[in-house]
Amino acid sequence: MTLVETGERIMDIQAKIYQGDSREWLRKLSENSVDLIVTSPPYADQRKNTYGGIPHDQYVEWFLPISEQLLRVLKPTGTFVLNIKEKVVEGERSTYVMELILEMRKQGWLWTEEFIWHKKNSYPGKWPNRFRDAWERVLQFNKHKKFNMYQDAVMVPMGDWAQARLKNLSEVDKTRDPSKVGSGFGKNISNWVNRDKAYPTNVLHLATECNNKSHSAAFPEELPEWFIKLFTQENDLVLDPFMGSGTTLMVANRMKRNSIGIDVMPEYCDMVKIHLAQAEFNLPNPKTNPPVNVEHPAGIRTGTN
Ligand SMILES: C[S@@+](CC[C@H](N)C(=O)[O-])C[C@H]1O[C@@H](n2cnc3c(N)ncnc32)[C@H](O)[C@@H]1O
Repeated sequence: MTLVETGERIMDIQAKIYQGDSREWLRKLSENSVDLIVTSPPYADQRKNTYGGIPHDQYVEWFLPISEQLLRVLKPTGTFVLNIKEKVVEGERSTYVMELILEMRKQGWLWTEEFIWHKKNSYPGKWPNRFRDAWERVLQFNKHKKFNMYQDAVMVPMGDWAQARLKNLSEVDKTRDPSKVGSGFGKNISNWVNRDKAYPTNVLHLATECNNKSHSAAFPEELPEWFIKLFTQENDLVLDPFMGSGTTLMVANRMKRNSIGIDVMPEYCDMVKIHLAQAEFNLPNPKTNPPVNVEHPAGIRTGTN
């Protein structure tokens, strides 16, 4: 296992890279220390030739010791965002994601929300018994019902519908309209007159990552970026225990959040280290020689400066 520390830059923002198995490294992190976990773990049975795949019927058993550690390291106000999608096995969708949610709830997690990542650049195809898969789950878990959430940071333009819908308000629109299904929720449409921004839905329309040649399963930068905006502030700590090409770390670093990334593949860790150092040089006031150190668990440091 190797620890790579890259860059201490403006406001002392740090990115740390741990090379090795998450199951081991997570145990070494302090409890209640992380503000946000954003990750896309290896999906069952996929990418066997690169970093190994976990059989779908062993997935829950494999993941639970990891989610147990994530629960330990997350702050009580923090959030865990898990991008995952069940595969098709013998013509049926596997149920391991649903089973995982149930088991994580037993572990103590609250399953707060499910976002849908709609892959808007999905190309057409023909399958005998289904249509093209154009979405993935993004599950939100928390330790407590009250957690940090900065909703204003992800507001979106109202859009054209507002012009037409808000022009001629009915009497019902001007008062609180209770839900017709008795949910206790209601809406007052007139609240949105003269506003140019609204809160988004739980569907994220993002293109898949096509330009990242260095990793076969990278998610687009907009995915961690949206959740980092929503759940953290500058100087907070973001963790990706399955870092891959380091998308989460690159975005966190750019957004002035501290970050920790773990990946079992040394080549991914080396690559992220180089990309973070390059990003450092591209800052308006880069350090002339940003530190890129490799620290072994025994405390021996080697590095480029
Ligand atoms: C789906 S990819 C993550 C891609 C990443 N989100 C990105 O944007 O590049 C999953 C990553 O988990 C890593 N991985 C697999 N098993 C692991 C383990 N036990 N501990 C740490 N990393 C692991 C793989 O090497 C792979 O890079």
